[in-house]
Amino acid sequence: MQDKQSQIIDMFDAIAPKYDMANRAMSLGIDRSWRKEACRLAFLELKSSQNIVIADIACGSGDMIASWIHNTPKETHIGHIYGYDPSQEMLKVAHEKLQNFSTPKIELLKGEAKALPFENTSIDILSISFGLRNVLEYEQALDEFVRVLKHGGIIVILEFFKPQNTTLLQKLMGFYTAKILPFVGGIISSNLKAYRYLPQSMQNFVSVSELEELMQKRGMHTLHLKGYSANVATLYMGVKS
Ligand SMILES: C[S@@+](CC[C@H](N)C(=O)[O-])C[C@H]1O[C@@H](n2cnc3c(N)ncnc32)[C@H](O)[C@@H]1O
Repeated sequence: MQDKQSQIIDMFDAIAPKYDMANRAMSLGIDRSWRKEACRLAFLELKSSQNIVIADIACGSGDMIASWIHNTPKETHIGHIYGYDPSQEMLKVAHEKLQNFSTPKIELLKGEAKALPFENTSIDILSISFGLRNVLEYEQALDEFVRVLKHGGIIVILEFFKPQNTTLLQKLMGFYTAKILPFVGGIISSNLKAYRYLPQSMQNFVSVSELEELMQKRGMHTLHLKGYSANVATLYMGVKS
């Protein structure tokens, strides 16, 4: 399994320089609004507002970290944001993107989601956007997420889950995601193979209802389950009791 995981990480290393451009073209920038709403809802749900510690897992090129900063309410103070990813090249892009933010303190760390370098109950908000699907040992990662989260802490997962297309619109969007998006991403990144991986990884992943069950088993209580763009992307938000 580690071989297959290493290949996935190598693939992200290879596409890192063109990842943002491909992403924007594929989602037409709509992913920004998904991230924005996820951040806004999480801040609303969080009981504390001072010295907040955020960990963004599979942070990639740093878009979710930027979204946390841009969408922080006036009365909330973030103490520390950790970005965590096993791809050195993605972290390099994140570093360039985020270096102009003077506050809060941003720290980028290298590693896989199945072993987080944080202490038990030390994180207020843990996010992972379009990352969990790439973690082959995702159940181990979920254990880690819950371990490091404070009681009352929030987990935010944005993901392309395994499709459960029922309506005609969902079927059309499923076709678009499986056939058209990988082609657009592949052309822009000059790496068709990497973008063919997108629909495959969705099919091999859990559905959103399966994820909710896995979270409940770990003591998480669901706060929001919301589909975007005919359920192409889904937001799961839960709180640790
Ligand atoms: C599709 S990108 C998402 C990046 C970013 N979160 C975003 O929203 O744009 C997936 C990220 O997952 C990372 N990744 C792959 N395998 C991982 C693992 N086992 N643990 C943590 N992150 C992983 C990749 O390096 C890549 O940066």
